[in-house]
Amino acid sequence: MGHRYPSFVSVLLLAAQVLAGLSAAGIGNGNPLDVSSREPQPKVPDYVIKHAPLLWLHPEDPFRPSDLLEHVRHTTPMSAHKPIPDVPHLSLDNLAVLNTAKGGPGALTSKDNVTTIPSWLLGEMPDEKGILHNSTACVVLLIEKSPEITDVFYWYFYSYNRGANITWVVEPFNRIFGAHPPSFHFGDHVGDWEHNMIRFKNGEPTGLFYSQHDGGASFDWNDHTISKKDGIRPFVYSAYGSHANYVTEGDHIHNVVLIDWCKAGHLWDPVGSAFFYRYDPKSSTFTSLHREGSNDPALVKSDGFIYYKGLWGDEKYPDTNPDQATVPYFGLKRFVSGPTGPVMKALIRTGLGPNGGAKRSWPEWIVVHVLGLRHRQRPLSILAIVHGEKFGEQTVFTGMAVRISSEIGRSWLE
Ligand SMILES: *[C@@H]1O[C@H](CO)[C@@H](O)[C@H](O)[C@H]1NC(C)=O
Ligand SMILES: *[C@@H]1O[C@H](CO)[C@@H](O)[C@H](O)[C@H]1NC(C)=O
Ligand SMILES: *[C@@H]1O[C@H](CO)[C@@H](O)[C@H](O)[C@H]1NC(C)=O
Repeated sequence: MGHRYPSFVSVLLLAAQVLAGLSAAGIGNGNPLDVSSREPQPKVPDYVIKHAPLLWLHPEDPFRPSDLLEHVRHTTPMSAHKPIPDVPHLSLDNLAVLNTAKGGPGALTSKDNVTTIPSWLLGEMPDEKGILHNSTACVVLLIEKSPEITDVFYWYFYSYNRGANITWVVEPFNRIFGAHPPSFHFGDHVGDWEHNMIRFKNGEPTGLFYSQHDGGASFDWNDHTISKKDGIRPFVYSAYGSHANYVTEGDHIHNVVLIDWCKAGHLWDPVGSAFFYRYDPKSSTFTSLHREGSNDPALVKSDGFIYYKGLWGDEKYPDTNPDQATVPYFGLKRFVSGPTGPVMKALIRTGLGPNGGAKRSWPEWIVVHVLGLRHRQRPLSILAIVHGEKFGEQTVFTGMAVRISSEIGRSWLE
């Protein structure tokens, strides 16, 4: 692995960080209304397709974009690890009945033991043109903020998120993983929603947001770091396992000590098969939009799922579950809870990213500080107590002492 970050830091222990989905702010109450329209169905504006992102999936990532309905079929709604009773047969059309079910909305929980990686968790590999033939793994949401400004969200769905293993953690923090079987990954979860958001002004793109774990990165549309197909469709690099979205290939450090890997392996054109909706924040309703030339009847029928407020994957397994594991000192779990869907994310934004959703927790700031000190090569010793922290929806964390001294040399654990 490439070490362009410090490979040696004189630190004793460190705050780890959470691996999980997006920080979510609720967006008010969506009502499960029937969105089938009385008038002729409104159309997807051309600019939404013309400038839609194109994703580069990592060549070795086994976890591909996944069909939403297939995901629902392989899961059972549960609440506190118990099945929600009296639930009708679920499909995308009626998934939102869970919002009002006793014990709902709950968590769509895998019917299979996920450590065996059943094939439905792997999703579908796009063809050489980037098209999925058997899956709809993208949801596009339009929010008209003013007569001129429209925010367009492109949501990508994967049935499984595999978190970091020991090789994905920056030294010296990777040592904390030492006691576990090398095949263990941490921060895994069933169900994974990632997104880009493009802000349009009068149909012209002005800015672009890439989701990454608890936050993400925003760019001006003309930023030279964004590469675009034919100058109009931005490329997005989806990280191995975590599917965090980056603007460039290569390795990216996130949450300070973990590494994401990106490589242009297989192209995915997400809008090749997608559900399109307009969202009205005032009434909290979604209207299904018709895409010109599309012959997928599901695009018009499948509206209920968009209102579903529960988790799209298993709730974090209790420590008594034989499949759960914990990184000592850090409290970092092998399995964390699946994420909620787009309706529960921060859809109403002032900036391009989730409002206030990308704040660093203070344990992270300590880590940043430490790395900065090393660069200046100043002998220094610090003792700090790091508390557990709720991070986005995925919670988790840290409670320990951190001691730093560049005089000591190699790090050690107290
Ligand atoms: C899941 O499968 C693994 C083997 O892959 C096994 O060790 C574990 O006990 C199973 N978990 C449950 C909850 O049965
Ligand atoms: C398409 O998905 C169905 C399940 O929904 C599966 O049975 C079938 O094998 C898949 N076909 C291809 C070509 O992947
Ligand atoms: C970590 O994950 C990578 C990718 O899955 C794998 O190639 C590597 O062998 C794993 N490392 C360990 C120590 O298991």
